[in-house]
Amino acid sequence: MVQAAVFGFGTVGSGVVEILDKNAGQVARRVPGGLNVKYILDIREFPDSPYGEKVVHDIDQILNDPEIKVVCETMGGKEPAYTFTKKALEKGISVCTSNKELVEYKGAELLGIAREHNCSYLFEAAVGGGIPLIMPMLNCLEQEKITSITGILNGTTNYILTRMEQENAEFGDVLRQAQELGYAERNPQADVEAHDTGRKIAILASLLTGKSVRFDDLHVEGITKITPLDLAVAGQHGFRVKLLCVCKDMGDGQAVYAAPHLVGSDSPLYAVNDVFNAVLFHGNMVDDLMLYGRGAGKLPTGSAVVADMVTAAVHAGENVPIRWSGEVEKPAPFEECVNEFYLRVDKADADRIKSALADGICEDWTSDAAGEDAVFVTGAMTEGEFAAKTAGEPLKQVIRIYRK
Ligand code: HSE
Repeated sequence: MVQAAVFGFGTVGSGVVEILDKNAGQVARRVPGGLNVKYILDIREFPDSPYGEKVVHDIDQILNDPEIKVVCETMGGKEPAYTFTKKALEKGISVCTSNKELVEYKGAELLGIAREHNCSYLFEAAVGGGIPLIMPMLNCLEQEKITSITGILNGTTNYILTRMEQENAEFGDVLRQAQELGYAERNPQADVEAHDTGRKIAILASLLTGKSVRFDDLHVEGITKITPLDLAVAGQHGFRVKLLCVCKDMGDGQAVYAAPHLVGSDSPLYAVNDVFNAVLFHGNMVDDLMLYGRGAGKLPTGSAVVADMVTAAVHAGENVPIRWSGEVEKPAPFEECVNEFYLRVDKADADRIKSALADGICEDWTSDAAGEDAVFVTGAMTEGEFAAKTAGEPLKQVIRIYRK
């Protein structure tokens, strides 16, 4: 039997404990004797929980117990998660986490500490919730030249956009539901402003390049300005609005960004709704490959953490290697990315803006659904060109159009 501890008994941490209990038989098939949660570290007490007697408040009680081989860090945020993770790894205790904020911030360093101390730092649950994504990417796609990764990697925003489109629901009401369902971050700004999805694509881009692609260097736009009107107009033309994160090969580097996009019904990403996430890889040999599953929630995310805990337990005393150095890799300039754009403007401004943009080659999408506004889509141009041609113009809405 391998002894484990859980740091943080919130949504995901409690899911991990429940899964280790309910699926103990499954776990024991790979970890002889199973994985036992000996301690739960939290500042709170849980008198009504069946696991309440495992709760401790002092991390040293866990770190000084030589039986502990694996920790699950589900505290979230940078601190004290960083300090606690570092201390555990320095003791040779493997750490498995869903904490994408910390993985993006200190992933390379923590992987280095794990290597030095013959233990592992694993973070399958940090990207795509319950989807096995990182290990398949590292183990099964290593031989591929991956030319693009396109993800729907935030469950909360995908849930919000789906409900707004299908039920004409209000943004605030649906966000509250997402919080109640345990999908949203403690501060849901991170979801709706695309910081969460931006961190996730920064992690994938880092794993792809083996260097550190920093969230702070990315262009990131959230969904707060998307209106039911835009969803209706897009729907009339066979599109849905999705918050996509993108990492694509530009020849001399990777463009990495996150923003809402119109996704057409010819794309498999179109059918990814509610809390589901998906990541679409394009490899030069394997072609298109999509992984799909629940991107948030207690049990799906907990399941991915438990998978890592099992791996760490099986490899106790050794390092499970993940290639990610601290050398910073700047993304290719966003201005050089080529996109097509959906625009909504005041009818009085439409002709002027259209002719500045494309000398009349814009496609008109204006309809009753657009109300008082004019809507049109442009041809392909660089982000830089688009910004220059629309500088100072009163644009009511700009959404990129996803093209494979
Ligand atoms: N808030 C995140 C989401 C949780 O909605 O996707 C999973 O990372």
